[in-house]
Amino acid sequence: MPAETASDSIKERIEELRKEIRRHDTLYYVLNTPEIADREYDELFRELQKLERTYGLATPDSPTQRVGEAPRDEFTKVRHLAPLLSLDTLLEEDEIRRFLERTEKALGRSPMYVVEPKFDGVSVEIVYENGRYVRGGTRGDGLVGEDVTENLRTIGALPLVLREDHPVPEVLSVRGEVIMPLKNFQQLNKGLVERGKEPFANPRNAAAGSLRQLDPRITASRPLDLFCYDILFLRGNPEESHFEEFERLTQWGLRTDPHRELCESEEGIIDFYRTMAEERDELPYEVDGIVIKVDRRLDRETLGTRTRSPRWAVAYKFEPRQEETVIEDIAVSVGRTGVLTPVALLRPVDVGGVTISRATLHNFGEVRRKDIRKRDTVRIARAGDVIPEVVERVPNAEEQRSAPFEMPRNCPVCRGEVVVRGAYHVCTNELSCPAQLKGAIRHFASRDALDIAGLGEKTVEALVEKGFVKDVADLFRLEKKDLLSLEGFAEKSARNLLRALEHSKRSTLERFLYALGIPGVGTRIAKVLAEELGGLDRLKKASKEELIEIREIGPEISEAVEGFFSNRKNLDVLERLEDMGLTFEKGAIDARTELQDKTFVFTGGLERLTRSEAKERVEALGGRVTSSVSSTTDYVVVGREPGSKAEKAVELGLSVLNEEQFLELLRR
Ligand code: IVH
Repeated sequence: MPAETASDSIKERIEELRKEIRRHDTLYYVLNTPEIADREYDELFRELQKLERTYGLATPDSPTQRVGEAPRDEFTKVRHLAPLLSLDTLLEEDEIRRFLERTEKALGRSPMYVVEPKFDGVSVEIVYENGRYVRGGTRGDGLVGEDVTENLRTIGALPLVLREDHPVPEVLSVRGEVIMPLKNFQQLNKGLVERGKEPFANPRNAAAGSLRQLDPRITASRPLDLFCYDILFLRGNPEESHFEEFERLTQWGLRTDPHRELCESEEGIIDFYRTMAEERDELPYEVDGIVIKVDRRLDRETLGTRTRSPRWAVAYKFEPRQEETVIEDIAVSVGRTGVLTPVALLRPVDVGGVTISRATLHNFGEVRRKDIRKRDTVRIARAGDVIPEVVERVPNAEEQRSAPFEMPRNCPVCRGEVVVRGAYHVCTNELSCPAQLKGAIRHFASRDALDIAGLGEKTVEALVEKGFVKDVADLFRLEKKDLLSLEGFAEKSARNLLRALEHSKRSTLERFLYALGIPGVGTRIAKVLAEELGGLDRLKKASKEELIEIREIGPEISEAVEGFFSNRKNLDVLERLEDMGLTFEKGAIDARTELQDKTFVFTGGLERLTRSEAKERVEALGGRVTSSVSSTTDYVVVGREPGSKAEKAVELGLSVLNEEQFLELLRR
């Protein structure tokens, strides 16, 4: 079908949508602070897809052409045996019929469909060779993901050897979803909160955070589960039907979900959808919709795929879960950038297995538009990934309403002046405001920044309250006696934090730039700036005209970067950081996080290098080689004809590497 010609206003809308979607991608993937519900995101995405298709305007850099996020640099990458595609989402029941009509038209007859639950977890590829588990990776950008072989190995539901009830193929690549059951999620969060750590927002984030750990032992300590739902690649005789494929998966010992059905019509599909929607509250894990797939392989081939998603399958999501509760109070929180956010403090309510006691009200405009006041009964929603939000007020004829909500004129934390910038109220006190200072320090220490273990929320709070830390440079002046004066600190924890701070002084420029928290500079932009400018001195001198020449850097970011590096106070902090010995080396950070202080034991002969070479390489990266295996050994490298140390390692549940994996680890 020839594309229609697009008017300027359509082209403008396309650009606007791309910009908006990219912004939400950054909020979601990079900053972990989504602003809109999945459903709203899907709507934007679909509008863009539709315009691009109608007018033939898709470009390779459009967000519609991406499958997912790029794999993180810290992980070794794995190329998938077949692309891990995404699914288009239907938003209304009517669209099911349209999907069926389209497939039927393309095939010239009506095929069978398989309907199954859509799990809300992390998509992975799992590869078996001759029935043995050899490798696993996250979806990444669909073609290349992160190597999480060892992490997946720790999941009990993943068979390391396939059962041979049915002949096992030479190579088998299976796609599945790693999930965290609701009960385990609640337990994990409870433990995190007790230890003063940030809980996960939902089971999906918990699963992702637990799987994407550089140290598989952390994954092993997290209760993860797995469901398999697709054969991506099989060398041998593939099944002709997806429904039968499920039987194979089960025979090989791979876990599948029993809720699946073969349907031949719209009624069957809608029935399944309704049943699942009713049952989902009883399920021990999160299901966020259903997936409708054409059953037969040959039909799928006829239908084909687009860049990002197949034409033979779609997802149809459930309505976000909603419950009613009462707003006990409206608090105002102050973030790292000084933005004041009204937050509804709720009478705790269980929404699909997760207890909710706070919900964001976004900004003042939202509160007024929805006319939300203290003591109101409201409906709140928890839509997958987003922080719970107040959907609407539930009017009640008898109620005596409180006065309309007002934003404070002074910052609730530091009493500083509050100004209005666009839709937001902002405290102007910058780092003199304890809330902004705490936010800045936590960001500085966060995982993608300098990754300083032991600087959790409680500690940062105490350090700021006690006046030990007035800016990030002060962190490096902390002494043991300061830490010992804080509640909860003992000799060992103080020593660990000081050591972590010391380690963090050797970092990479990109991490450091991200750590500074310059508006608009997320991990991706920090990387670009570090690559293009190479050093802090050049960055300090760069003008906004120079910066804007760099790929991906627009006027707002170049202005923010120039502004940051011409601010006296910031330059002073940078100078003190440098005086304290902060250095940036390419690659140093990876070596530090991976092998520093790790102990290795070798058993059996190595092929590619001698024992003493192996020892040298480990030591060069800050690790140690010892001769006997104990529970404190970090890695046991097993070569040809290994001795009893290998068995002992397995007994103790240590990380066991073969030579290839060991070399991989050195290369990281
Ligand atoms: S099939 C081409 N089946 O939903 C087939 N996906 O965007 C694509 N998901 O990232 C996948 N449950 O992680 C399929 N039963 C299921 C699924 C499922 C969850 C996830 C998958 C994918 C996302 C769709």
